Amino acid sequence: MHSPLRVLFITAEAEPFVKIGGLGDYAGSLPKAISEFKSSDSSNVDIRVVLPFHGGIEATVPPLTKIASIKVQTNTGYAKGIVFQFAHQGITYYLVKRSGNPSGYKNVYNPTQIEDARKYIFFSLACLEFIKVIDWSPDIIHANDWHTAISVYELAEKRRADKFYRSVRSLLTVHNLPFTGEGSQPTLREFQLKPLKSILLPSWAKFLPLPMGLENADEIVAVSPTYAQELKQEEFGNGLVDFFFRNTHKTTGILNGIDTSTWDPATDECLSQNYSINQMEKRNINKEKILQEFGLGNNIKKPLLVLISRLTPQKGIDILLQGLPHLFDDEWSAIFLGSGQHELEKGLIDLESQIPDRFKVVLEFNNPLAHRLYASGDILLMPSLYEPCGLSQLIAMRYGCIPVARAVGGLKDSIIAEPPDLRTGYLFEKADGLTFANCLRKALSDYKNKKKWISIQKRAMNVDFSWKKSAGQYLDLYKAMLSVKIGTK
Ligand code: GLC
Repeated sequence: MHSPLRVLFITAEAEPFVKIGGLGDYAGSLPKAISEFKSSDSSNVDIRVVLPFHGGIEATVPPLTKIASIKVQTNTGYAKGIVFQFAHQGITYYLVKRSGNPSGYKNVYNPTQIEDARKYIFFSLACLEFIKVIDWSPDIIHANDWHTAISVYELAEKRRADKFYRSVRSLLTVHNLPFTGEGSQPTLREFQLKPLKSILLPSWAKFLPLPMGLENADEIVAVSPTYAQELKQEEFGNGLVDFFFRNTHKTTGILNGIDTSTWDPATDECLSQNYSINQMEKRNINKEKILQEFGLGNNIKKPLLVLISRLTPQKGIDILLQGLPHLFDDEWSAIFLGSGQHELEKGLIDLESQIPDRFKVVLEFNNPLAHRLYASGDILLMPSLYEPCGLSQLIAMRYGCIPVARAVGGLKDSIIAEPPDLRTGYLFEKADGLTFANCLRKALSDYKNKKKWISIQKRAMNVDFSWKKSAGQYLDLYKAMLSVKIGTK
């Protein structure tokens, strides 16, 4: 082990430079939390983050220094690239640029898998090349999701053949199991990678980036303890249930945190009115403004439901669309913010046209408005089909907006629904509209009791969702990995 411990953290996105979804939040805040973590043995960590040189990224980062030229073997020669370095908040970042004029860099993720495969498989392999060129061998390579899983696969190959990599361990975090990198097969061939031999994996999984990484990872982390268990259930395991059963010994669940300085209602600059736990009346000023702005009247006693989400089937928009009509006779208004799949957008617009004076849809990615909705909404709706961790519910609770969510993954781990005197939110089990509506009805009924509601809000706002605890768990895991002889776990 080096002192400080060295970690190369490989990711497709990281805030504040590039963010599409929850991975961007995670990779934007975890490395910093780990490097700032004060462990009892006062060991520290040199954690460095690598990102692809996405189009336009140079406008969001500090001045760059070129540090290496690299080449990655293909079946027709070499794919070349350049690596740049910059520093931000005490962390070293690298950007890997592919030379020539490759397609697929204008978007973070592309509409066609073949462009994404070319971009991310090159990136994953390039990460292993440049650490050797700069002669910086990490103790741990920490990769995330299918985009960077091939670095874990290739590390296992290189460890056998090249002394430089021999003592490097690998950890792969699973943020979203169904995204395996399907469609990458031609690119895997282009980079001369070989299918897994494992007879225990289903044949479709042997030549796909995520399973190739999972099979070779020294440790796997799911982004919540419940998700780590769900990976072993048919409903969530995406055909890899047997694999996860066999690999229980190397799979852990660690709940994500949030950046509590960015997400703080007492200082948040996006809000009309800042507030803290002892000034809940001030919170209403935010709600008043939002209701006015959206033409939802001026009755602040009427509960405001909010939903802030990417529009993918994962987020349970169908459950919401089936559920809300059961509550047309109850008093509430709702604002939806987010964008994504066309059919889901259409479903929301149809609902808006049925009840235009109480349901408003904003089909865009609008971060300042998201902040304001967390500070104005009384109830956050999160009927996800699956939710590895989920971020919205953590932010919402910190802002006193109470989640009504499905009891899955990180939602189950972060929201307390029972016993009622410890309640910080509401959970329902079955993925259907009626079950969701019944759960929301219970929340609406509690909302009418002002004293009860404020105590739920205060409990939710008091929970510590910072990265502190989880950063310590990652650090403990890194250290534990170093004491295990490679390939023996
Ligand atoms: C993915 C998951 C989400 C999780 C995020 C960060 O976006 O869908 O549940 O919070 O990754 O780990």
